[in-house]
Amino acid sequence: GRSYQIASIPGDGIGVDVVIEARKVLDRAAALHGFDLGWTEFDWSCERYARTGTMMPEDGVEQLSAFDGIFLGAVGFPGVPDHVSLWGLLIPIRRAFAQYVNLRPVRLLPGTSSVLKNRSAEELEMVIVRENSEGEYSTIGGRQTGPAGEFAVQESVFTRAGVERIIRYAFELARTRAGRVCSATKSNGIIHTMPFWDEIFTEVAAGYPDVHSEQCHIDALAARMVQQPDRLDVVVGSNLFGDILSDLAAAITGGLGMAPSGNINPAGEYPSMFEAVHGSAPDIAGQGIANPVAQILAGAMMLEHLGESAAARAVNAAVEGVLAAGEVATPDLGGKSTTADLGTAIAAALDASPSRIAGD
Ligand code: NAD
Ligand code: IPM
Ligand code: MN
Repeated sequence: GRSYQIASIPGDGIGVDVVIEARKVLDRAAALHGFDLGWTEFDWSCERYARTGTMMPEDGVEQLSAFDGIFLGAVGFPGVPDHVSLWGLLIPIRRAFAQYVNLRPVRLLPGTSSVLKNRSAEELEMVIVRENSEGEYSTIGGRQTGPAGEFAVQESVFTRAGVERIIRYAFELARTRAGRVCSATKSNGIIHTMPFWDEIFTEVAAGYPDVHSEQCHIDALAARMVQQPDRLDVVVGSNLFGDILSDLAAAITGGLGMAPSGNINPAGEYPSMFEAVHGSAPDIAGQGIANPVAQILAGAMMLEHLGESAAARAVNAAVEGVLAAGEVATPDLGGKSTTADLGTAIAAALDASPSRIAGD
């Protein structure tokens, strides 16, 4: 039968709590749809850092290279500085495997409500296409002390090739959706990199006359995402801007517990990595109250990426069914259920999923 080798890196905090539940759901989906997920567990985390002095072994990236997919919980925990933990694990994987697209779908699911008044699911249906390999996330710069005192410099690097490929990806994606691309920049304030991005956007857009394109200042776009989200379809932005917009978009569609993410290597030469948009949530870690839906939906994205579309649809349907019924919900959704209750309910709902009854 069909079989996929998956590297599981639960990581830190609630990453551990939600990955267990997502695996429960994905294994059930695999069993029902006739394929096998072979999991290999990696303990790479801040806990490992405390023990050994590194987040992952020196050949960590190499160890991951043969897998069909990487399933990541979250990285970062008090006690290890965030720039150390993230640059020791998450960011090296994204870069080594040319996962230059961070795909972050944003949907208001049935049974959950938006903090925005009177917004329906049809009006909140977008995807953030975040550049995931360069931009503001750079190691160039440093701290110095000059005549006027101490200062820090941080360079952003935008390559023509890097900007062009992410914008092209956004336009291709828009063709499969509502056909609109909005580019988020700050070209009125950031005078070198952002006008460069805008120029490339205009060039690429010219090749897609069938797609509606617009360029927005990120500050105004942030307001618009709250006040008029219904006109947004594909939103493309740089590494940092895409990061910020994805938490905002999550917040208007039920919160961070609902938002999945895929770090995609479009050429398929390396494994892609799937995770929630949220982090390790130290404030609720270990309490059994984290919402596992974001991680479960990230699992559905992974199944889709592996070519198991029917199973991916079934997982999405199971999540929607359980949320719509409203009987099992974690505290962030207004309920009293535990992480495990919700994971178990979604796994159980798979047995009754319409796609399975339909026989695919
Ligand atoms: P966070 O996303 O971990 O948490 C922000 C808030 O959202 C917290 O109040 C948290 O309790 C809540 N929240 C997040 N996920 C939730 C869920 N599934 N269910 C219910 N509530 C949820 O962001 P943060 O506090 O800024 O970061 C915490 C740590 O995680 C830091 O070390 C940060 O660097 C790291 N981080 C890692 C990733 C990643 O691994 N991709 C992403 C974001 C943050
Ligand atoms: C995310 C996170 C990371 C990012 C941090 C933790 C480095 O916020 O995956 O959204 O900015 O990429
Ligand atoms: Mn983020």
